[in-house]
Amino acid sequence: MADQKPDLNENTNVLDSHANLQQSSAASAREHQLQENGMEPVSLWVILACFFGVLAGGAVIGKAGGFSYNNLVTEGYTTGPIPGGGVEEVQPLPIMDVFTKKGSKIYSAKCQGCHQPNGLGDGANFPPLGNSEWVTMNTSAMAQIILNGVMGPIEVDGRVWNGAMPGQAAGMTDVDLAALMTYLRNSFGNEVGDVISTEMAANAFTEYKSRAAGAPVPPPVTVEELKSKYMVDLEGEKVDPALKVDPETLEPAQ
Ligand code: HEC
Repeated sequence: MADQKPDLNENTNVLDSHANLQQSSAASAREHQLQENGMEPVSLWVILACFFGVLAGGAVIGKAGGFSYNNLVTEGYTTGPIPGGGVEEVQPLPIMDVFTKKGSKIYSAKCQGCHQPNGLGDGANFPPLGNSEWVTMNTSAMAQIILNGVMGPIEVDGRVWNGAMPGQAAGMTDVDLAALMTYLRNSFGNEVGDVISTEMAANAFTEYKSRAAGAPVPPPVTVEELKSKYMVDLEGEKVDPALKVDPETLEPAQ
């Protein structure tokens, strides 16, 4: 049209077209997204949900025994024998030998710091175990001295000592005590020749526990107490020192 006048609503039109433009670009942006269907970035929440899902799933399977490291190891598998080397057989030995060997190790660990490696004491503070009537005579008194410790005047081989020995029961088993007592009665010049059986040692522990009456560390015994109660031999089956046993299991050999 020739008499077209300047558009007085130009302002409005600019706003309109701007809005149009926004609309169509939004539309085209949507189109664009639709084109990449399946490739949209995944929400952080979805990632976290998957992570915890897998974690919980793994825990459930692990707890239910669905996975165990042991299942990956062939049962009974051990390192094979060295080629050319024979299978080592455990030789049965007399129980006297087995106990004295074991007892000497316990002595080194628990007693020799005071009673000295030669078992003869230090001549000043620690009495000798060699040639001591407390070691070679009543096994009940000997056991209670070892387990509870002993304090106050005590005569050993004609000399009076007056100190205090702390109890040595901590960490000791029946077999340990039996082996240690057997070793002491047959070392440092002592030659009693008997074996203290595991059953006898177990009875000594029973006496020790009843004396302790629940206290974790009972007080050391005195000579007076020893003389009033323990000047006897431990009850329990005696063992022939020559009996051959498996050094590991202590079972008598066939
Ligand atoms: C901390 C030092 C110390 C240790 C460790 C120790 N004793 Fe004693 N023992 C003594 C003292 C001290 C006496 C004497 C106590 C007294 O005068 O009443 C004694 C006394 C004895 C006695 C009685 C007296 C004698 O000479 O025969 C025997 C048995 C004995 N000890 C065995 C052992 C055994 C076995 C062990 C190891 C399991 C051991 N002792 C560990 C310090 C010790």
